[in-house]
Amino acid sequence: MSRRTPIVAANWKMHTTVRTAAELCQALRESIDEVRGVEKVVCPPFVFLALVQQALAGSSIKVGAQNVFWEEKGAFTGEISPPMLSDLCEYVIIGHSERRKYFGETDETANRRLKAALAEGLHPIFCIGETAEERQAGRTEEVLLRQVRQGLAGIEIPLGFVVAYEPVWAIGTGVPATGEIANEAIALIRRELASLYGGQLAEAARIQYGGSVDGVNIGEFMAEPEIDGALVGGASLKADVFTTIVAEAARLKGTA
Ligand code: PGA
Repeated sequence: MSRRTPIVAANWKMHTTVRTAAELCQALRESIDEVRGVEKVVCPPFVFLALVQQALAGSSIKVGAQNVFWEEKGAFTGEISPPMLSDLCEYVIIGHSERRKYFGETDETANRRLKAALAEGLHPIFCIGETAEERQAGRTEEVLLRQVRQGLAGIEIPLGFVVAYEPVWAIGTGVPATGEIANEAIALIRRELASLYGGQLAEAARIQYGGSVDGVNIGEFMAEPEIDGALVGGASLKADVFTTIVAEAARLKGTA
């Protein structure tokens, strides 16, 4: 039994419609609401947050957003602020590699988003991970340490803070990391958290693996001691596959 409650989050990315979002919520209510010992989070596109919040109300499944801006309000066309989210969800993904790659986000903007989200009482899922080129060049450790240090600069993490280790080369590629590779990177991240915040907060932090997780390989990741759950993209859009992932996380890591 793990000391930390594992957390499995569904990142729907830019998928679903009003109808399919509602159907997915209904299916998940039936299949994972009763699974204990693992925290379950669904992160739909912004426009479906209210719908998903309502569809999952009264269940054990929590809701998260996929990003947040750092300003509270103002003339920022197209942006969504922390107070807007805190009425609709508990979690928010920050610093996802697709945001970094396609929308110019950096360690510094992740840091601003993290500060604003935490000040509003939202729980961030802070994403980091190296690219294939960085790994091939032997720079994985340097990159992860930089992302942790700069992303968390000036921040006191709360107990149970969530980090997602997502190697960019494994995201959406169908080529996951191995359990061993992910465990090693996550151990490194936890050691860095310990040096920044002390052993207690580092031991309580939940560090997920993300990148081509599916119903078959989830077991390999959950068997590793340092991995506290998963951030799931593509496979989270299929209710039966996401159900298997949650059930496996509970079976292998659950605190219930
Ligand atoms: P994937 O995405 O499971 O489709 O690889 C994971 C993520 O980007 O969070």
